[in-house]
Amino acid sequence: MKFELDLFRKITDELLKDEKVHPVLPPISPKDISSKIDISLSDEGSADDEFSKILRDLILLTPRTATKSFFNQLFGGRNARATLGDLLAVVLNNAMHTYKVSGPMVAIEKIIVKQFNQLLAYGDKAGGTMASGGSMTNFMAILMARDRAQETIRQMGVRSALTAYTSKESHYSVSKNASFIGIGRDQVRYIESDALGEMIPSALQAAIENDLELGNIPFFVNATAGTTVMGAFDPIDEIANICQLYNIWLHIDGAYCGSVILSNKYKHLVKGAEKSDSFSINAHKMLGTPLTCSFIMVKDKEYLSKSFDNNASYLFQMDEDDYNLGKVSLQCGRRNDGLKLWTLWKSVGHKGLEKIVDHQFDLAAEGRAYVRNHPDYKLYSNENTLSVCFNYKDIAPEEICAALYEHGKLMVGHGSFKGDTFVRLVTINYGNSTEDIHQFFETLEAFVAEHFAISMNPA
Ligand SMILES: Cc1ncc(COP(=O)(O)O)c(C=O)c1O
Repeated sequence: MKFELDLFRKITDELLKDEKVHPVLPPISPKDISSKIDISLSDEGSADDEFSKILRDLILLTPRTATKSFFNQLFGGRNARATLGDLLAVVLNNAMHTYKVSGPMVAIEKIIVKQFNQLLAYGDKAGGTMASGGSMTNFMAILMARDRAQETIRQMGVRSALTAYTSKESHYSVSKNASFIGIGRDQVRYIESDALGEMIPSALQAAIENDLELGNIPFFVNATAGTTVMGAFDPIDEIANICQLYNIWLHIDGAYCGSVILSNKYKHLVKGAEKSDSFSINAHKMLGTPLTCSFIMVKDKEYLSKSFDNNASYLFQMDEDDYNLGKVSLQCGRRNDGLKLWTLWKSVGHKGLEKIVDHQFDLAAEGRAYVRNHPDYKLYSNENTLSVCFNYKDIAPEEICAALYEHGKLMVGHGSFKGDTFVRLVTINYGNSTEDIHQFFETLEAFVAEHFAISMNPA
């Protein structure tokens, strides 16, 4: 490994230096990749020198998603302690299905789940696990809800018209997952949201009543803590009361902003979460760990076993089932995705994680204040969101975002809500300061002055 570790050090040193000078690389068109980097694979291997050079080129030409100029998605930054944990997990290469092959790493995953469960006030029966992303933890939730709704489904398949409910602003994984679990995408009811992008509880209740009249079986409600575009929080308390009334599984998709449970100041945004059946969190979003680090907490862990347990005598040969995480997982072999959050949490403590969460909201508040104070901007976001949505000088957001990227200035995306399209600045990079947020706007304004001023079309 010496050669590889030295090479790793050399390439990452160069990358980190270069990122400071070039935080955004202009995009490479897919058709030009092979002319810029020799990615070809052939019968003969490459000599060490050649291999090192090609690998370096590949790393240095890859989009830079961990820099201060990346505002494009719901992840960002590079937390050193979390990165250390992930690197060590790769070197160890455990499979997180049995205690036999992962030992204390099982306890690492379990202790994080336990902490989250305590914050959720889920009680003594709570459990949880990790999956390979927020779409997959949402999948696990809807699957458990399906199996709870009808005990026979696991063996006999879906035979009734089960209906699921989610807001129009929720993540697209909900409809995909409805097809994966065999109820079909048409069985998802998209509930109207209000002007803030929050699900309207009375509209949810009306949709459930309507389905009951039609003879359908409402079984699953997905509420979102941080919708993908607007970063809105559905009113969980009211939604939970409706779910209890009709005995429907309530899942909270907290992939984007579920980490607010760590903050005294912001946990009110998920008020009522203790009444839900499951709750998902992507630590690779708000907590800034490397991708992926996705948890699902379940109020009654029996539902995990009921839906995901399977006998496999070749695999589960030792130890209590509670420590054989494969018994409650989607996959068989699993990456050790918990260690990176543990190294971070161990280093900074709960208080440090709380600071991360609070700082992101401060950055967003700074962004909104900037937009409000400058008349050339129009703001679309409200309070309590990490998504600062705006337009500048009425320039089409699609054009401005593409041009900023093509010129290697900023990576930022656009989104739409109720007929408006806008730039969506995501303040999720904890490593950024309020000055970096100001810098974002200054870069944007200077760029527009240079490239858009006369014709309102990018040069
Ligand atoms: C609200 C919400 N849920 C789920 C997901 C999916 O998470 P992942 O990308 O980890 O699959 C996202 C992704 O952005 C999201 O915003």
